[in-house]
Amino acid sequence: MKLSKVILAGTVGLVSLSMAACGGGSSSGDSSGGGQQTVFKLAFNQTEEHPQYLAAVELGKKLEEATDGRYSIKVYPNEQLGTQTDVVQNLSNGTVEMMYIGGPVMEGFNKDFIVYNLPYVFDSIEAQQEVFRDQELNDELFHSLEASKNITVLAALHAGVRNVYSSKGPVREPSDLSGQKIRVQQSDSQVKMIELMGAVASPMGQGDVYSALQTGVLDGAENNETVYDSLKHDEIAKYYSYTKHLMIPDYLLISSKALEGMDDADREAFLALIPDTQDMADTGFLDFVEESKANAESLGAEFVEDVDTAAFKELVQPLVDESVNENDARKALYAAIQEANAAHPAS
Ligand code: GCU
Repeated sequence: MKLSKVILAGTVGLVSLSMAACGGGSSSGDSSGGGQQTVFKLAFNQTEEHPQYLAAVELGKKLEEATDGRYSIKVYPNEQLGTQTDVVQNLSNGTVEMMYIGGPVMEGFNKDFIVYNLPYVFDSIEAQQEVFRDQELNDELFHSLEASKNITVLAALHAGVRNVYSSKGPVREPSDLSGQKIRVQQSDSQVKMIELMGAVASPMGQGDVYSALQTGVLDGAENNETVYDSLKHDEIAKYYSYTKHLMIPDYLLISSKALEGMDDADREAFLALIPDTQDMADTGFLDFVEESKANAESLGAEFVEDVDTAAFKELVQPLVDESVNENDARKALYAAIQEANAAHPAS
């Protein structure tokens, strides 16, 4: 069953689901009402300081209140439940109910997710947020995996601006990156992107990056300032260069069956909490970037601002053109991005 009508947050109560309770979640007897409590496991690959972690904990508390203790969420940070590529399989199989996942990993299930993962497509955070909050626009994409994979996208979150960092030196222009072994997320789009930028792509899970940098398997990686600092990549790769090549989402996912398995009132209460979760994670992110940057600087990292971003943009443009012109669904998403960019240009 497609859950999109239910998920259109705010329009709660429109659809009554016929499916009997069949969702996941472990049960325990500690509900405040004295009955069973269902605990959704939520997997996260970063630290407890991250705003997405804090927003998930808050969501769990509010869910518990709103359902009189029938539901709660236990958040597992630091890749405790595995890499995103492993966890999403477990979510699909029904052994994990919720997770945050980087946009590119979703391309493995439906390639149309690529549009939001392309380099230099969003001009500003405001443009990105406008697109991600447009429920009608995203309806098809976010519910495309329910029947086949048991995956429902609850929200798309701002996950920073990604830049290249390296132990070799500043990257001010494409020739500086030439031949460097750079870690990317595990998807074809990310591999192609970094190759077009002139580097050698090394796709791997986030948890393996630190030791790969340490042993010289990698020269560098590309990510936002928060990962750079909180996963201690700044101890090794001292040059963080503002290539600004990506602004891509993280998604908050839930097992479709777990969602369907809630009774109507509990599900509605849960879905009504999602916009606040999205706002809390996004707002906290911007502060977290500043803190991470200050901390990295205090450890001796150098932030390089004078980067020829136009040169990198030109190199990756073929990937953008080829990817968005593939079908009408992608063209529509891309057109919406252009509209949002016009309304919210880069500052
Ligand atoms: C960011 C993003 C994660 C992603 C990670 C990565 O931290 O928030 O979802 O997994 O980058 O590069 O793997």
